[in-house]
Amino acid sequence: AFVVLDNCIKCKYTDCVEVCPVDCFYEGPNFLVIHPDECIDCALCEPECPAEAILSEDEVPEGQQQFIQLNADLAEVWPNITERKDPLPDAEEWNGVPNKVAQLER
Ligand code: SF4
Ligand code: F3S
Repeated sequence: AFVVLDNCIKCKYTDCVEVCPVDCFYEGPNFLVIHPDECIDCALCEPECPAEAILSEDEVPEGQQQFIQLNADLAEVWPNITERKDPLPDAEEWNGVPNKVAQLER
């Protein structure tokens, strides 16, 4: 499956959800996740993200391994999102800030 990583937090551009053929994105207050059992590994979402926050699970860097489980867990509790919406207001300021996981709202 593909995984949403740290740099989505506080940005949430949502371009990714428009292209997913199986609508497997789920939305929290300041982050999105992919349901690992629904993702068909089509890779369409990866280049759509302006924050480059999506990678295949076998490409997830060492420091972000926790996001594999976070996507699986939060996809079970957050609502589905299938249409693009405005990014979070400070998305440009937060894009590229490292280690935003402390800012993650559930
Ligand atoms: Fe959806 Fe394809 Fe991205 Fe998986 S890889 S989340 S199926 S767009
Ligand atoms: Fe997040 Fe990128 Fe989608 S910032 S909402 S993974 S387009």
